[in-house]
Amino acid sequence: MVHSRKALYLASVAFAASASLASAEGVEVLHWWTSGGEAAALNVLKEDLAGQGIGWEDMPVAGGGGEAASTTLKARVASGNPPDAAQLLGMALQEWAAEGSLGNLNAVAEANDWDSVVPASLKALATYEGNWVGVPVNIHRPNWLWINAEVFEANDLTPPTTWDEFNTVAAQLQDLGITPLAHGGQPWQDATIFDDVVLGMGGADFYRDAIHNLDPEALGSDTMVAVFDQMRTIRGFVDENFSGRDWNLATAMLMDGEAGMQLMGDWAKGEITRAGLTPGKDILCVPAPSTTGSYLFISDYFAAFNVSEDEKASQEALAASILAPGFQEAFNLVKGSIPARTDVSVGEFDACGQRAAADLKEAQENNTLVGSLAHGTAQTSAVQRAIFDVVTEHFNSDMSSEDAVEELQIAVESASY
Ligand code: GAL
Repeated sequence: MVHSRKALYLASVAFAASASLASAEGVEVLHWWTSGGEAAALNVLKEDLAGQGIGWEDMPVAGGGGEAASTTLKARVASGNPPDAAQLLGMALQEWAAEGSLGNLNAVAEANDWDSVVPASLKALATYEGNWVGVPVNIHRPNWLWINAEVFEANDLTPPTTWDEFNTVAAQLQDLGITPLAHGGQPWQDATIFDDVVLGMGGADFYRDAIHNLDPEALGSDTMVAVFDQMRTIRGFVDENFSGRDWNLATAMLMDGEAGMQLMGDWAKGEITRAGLTPGKDILCVPAPSTTGSYLFISDYFAAFNVSEDEKASQEALAASILAPGFQEAFNLVKGSIPARTDVSVGEFDACGQRAAADLKEAQENNTLVGSLAHGTAQTSAVQRAIFDVVTEHFNSDMSSEDAVEELQIAVESASY
């Protein structure tokens, strides 16, 4: 904690327990929002807090998807010095809560009536044994396909809606000398594609059976063999320098027209808008192939680690600010996500954001809303890691689909044992 940044907490924050915040200090936040678009979004939060006289102690750990951040966080907690707040995905939040490392935000939640405004799917992951252990910031949709409109128009290509159409258009792009798919070979990015293929080839019920319920029959099914066949086909559509590339550099390839498409969550919009392009116009958004009608979701949370009484005040102030309606709109407009509250209008959002909100509603009604494996919203970290390993090994070798399915079953069984 940097004491020179000690904040004078302003009475203006709408939080019932504000009296206890008089000594609020600067808040230390561990996060992985380091790309241009992510940093711009985080800035909205920093400025919001600065407006309340609350300082910011930045603890960035680069690495999309948060793997490196998770390692740093473990070290900080193990040494008895957790940050005031840490960005976490849903299942990790649950795991930290089960470890007993988290305090609660119940007072803030009650004062601001989170129970009535936070969607049930988010609340389920933000609460543990009835206590609010984290605050949701946003709702992201990982199953999007981003398309360079100019490349498609100039070559008379049609945005694909199914995996067959995707394979056809990708081959056409390849013939034109354009990289079909901008991709970065990192396990979480491979898994982001895998998520899309499982959902697309099998549908929401299959995704739930295989990925959420780890049903051996689904994991060993012909559908899963077909999923790995499609992964192999996709492998043929990435450029030869894909290995290790960061996701935002892949988005840059898409924006430059060096690549025609990218399978990525809507945090890509943060890069697109920051580059002065319009999502839905310059870069088109369509649901990942064959996933129209289904919605993969993730939410970023800030977890409330056990901190001293003094630090608790700034932690609570941060949490109250994050779910305030005005902040929800301002932040999510920049981040590319949609609000984590049901009562914030998306009227000001771009076409892709508006579609995300409408599709989410439809998916909720049709029971086709599923949490993303790649983004910590489906499985424990052990099972997630086990599946990542198989997916990445398959993607980077000539392993057959049948062998991959077998490996998958073995890996899941030992990790969930
Ligand atoms: C996700 C996170 C997003 C996004 C992405 C890439 O896990 O939820 O907010 O930033 O990683 O870093």
